[in-house]
Amino acid sequence: MQQQPPLQLGVLGSGKGSNFRAIAEAIDAGRLNAQVRIVIADVEDAGILDYARARGIRAEYLPPGRFRTKLEPEAEARLVALLREAGVDLVVLAGYMRIVKAPLLEAFPNRIVNIHPALLPKFPGLEAWKQALEAGAAVAGCTVHYVDSGVDSGPILGQSEVPVLPGDTAETLHARIQVAEHALYPAVLARLAAER
Ligand code: GAR
Repeated sequence: MQQQPPLQLGVLGSGKGSNFRAIAEAIDAGRLNAQVRIVIADVEDAGILDYARARGIRAEYLPPGRFRTKLEPEAEARLVALLREAGVDLVVLAGYMRIVKAPLLEAFPNRIVNIHPALLPKFPGLEAWKQALEAGAAVAGCTVHYVDSGVDSGPILGQSEVPVLPGDTAETLHARIQVAEHALYPAVLARLAAER
């Protein structure tokens, strides 16, 4: 059977980029038929940019502007232009801590995915693992979903559960969730790449 061309990914992040790393490793290992065209961060010294540069992947810092939770409209227009120029098919939010708005949603309809560190619809929003711990949940986990105009609310593509263990702190629980994230995200992307 002839292999399809790789799914062209544009990755957005704000932090250390461990999910991006897991995605890149899955591509290297032949488990995910994709190529990362560009990595864009709203934080200038984000580890995700360093990791992209170390791999020879185009890495761009995009100053977000004056808002804390979303991009300035000009910045979002620039984001769309960068992703389009790079030939991106699917936008992958990997620890991107901004809410995406109409310009990006309309430019990539049903072509933006996110990973969230909770079993959505439970615990949307910030530091979801802390929310799970504080609520006394026995089970936590992560969700990959399509992005829509709500906060962590689009159609769910896949979930992975992890136990909350006695003595867990926010840090130990998040670390366990991240191990699950690093398996789930590449697997869901591989499915999307195969189902085209
Ligand atoms: C991940 O745990 C991801 O689920 C979370 O940020 C972390 C990024 O880690 N995202 C959100 O909370 C989005 N609402 P990484 O930079 O190591 O991939």
